[in-house]
Order: sequence, then C-alpha cells, then structure tokens
Amino acid sequence: MTASNRIALSSDHAAIQLRQIIAAHVATKGWVAVDIGPKAPESTPYPKHGEAAARLVASGDCRFGIILCGTGQGIMMAANKVKGIRCGVCADTFSAGMIRQHNDANMLAIGARVVGEGLALDIVDAFLTAEFEGGRHAMRVEMIRALEG
Ligand code: RB5
Repeated sequence: MTASNRIALSSDHAAIQLRQIIAAHVATKGWVAVDIGPKAPESTPYPKHGEAAARLVASGDCRFGIILCGTGQGIMMAANKVKGIRCGVCADTFSAGMIRQHNDANMLAIGARVVGEGLALDIVDAFLTAEFEGGRHAMRVEMIRALEG
C-alpha cells in the first residue's frame, strides 16, 4: 500500500463546504482525497477532527493532511499534539510553500472564516507543489522532532 498520493482531509462544522471544495480540487490534481468528514452541519469540536486526520498522516496512511476550522488555529494546535506532525496555518501562498520547503510540514491548516475559496485553493496548490529543501533545514526539523521526546 502506498500513502504517497493520499491526503487526509477533515474539519469542524465551520469549514465543511470549503473542505469538500478542497477535496474535489486535490482529486483533479491526481491526489486521492481521504475526506473523513464531518458531513453534518452540527457543531462539532475541532480537536477530534484534527487528531483524526493527524493520525492518518502520522501512521503513514496518508502523505499529507489538510485540515480546516473557522480560523485554522484550533485544529492546527490539536494536530500538532500528535507525534510526527508538523502542521502550519496558512492564509497566504508564500507561507504555504515555505512550510514545505523549510519546515517539511506534513499538514496544512486553513481558516475557512479567514480566506475565500480562490485563495484557499491557491494555498493548497502552493503547499502540495513545494518540496522540502533539506540541507540546513533538515537539522532544524530534527530539532523539532527531538522536542517530541
Ligand atoms: C468554532 O466556532 C471555532 O471556534 C473553530 O472553528 C475554530 O475557529 C477554532 O480554532
């Protein structure tokens, strides 16, 4: 089984529509969107959805994770508690590329109440097309890993 083309997607209630738009978008780019919901509009706590997507990435089932809540902040905080996860919130394309290039991020968080659909898709593309540069950045990422104990 290969995880190399699988992306885990999750959100809370604040970002269901944008999550589904992103899932459809990444599928057009050749990725397999593993959209783990939720589908229902009822209020649901972002930590459990951030954790669920993070587990899929940390276990190797998915190469990347894209997670959303109202701001992107809460779900990012939850995902980063899972060992092996490096997730950044992005509201601009420059940062979305840089968290791959310099931080080897394996998850991207987006705030559905912060960015519109067009920018969100550009952010996703910037994240997915950038490559980790390694070199001096590898040692820094290793220092992040060491903090996990
Ligand atoms: C839900 O109202 C909201 O708090 C959540 O989507 C997110 O913005 C938290 O960080």
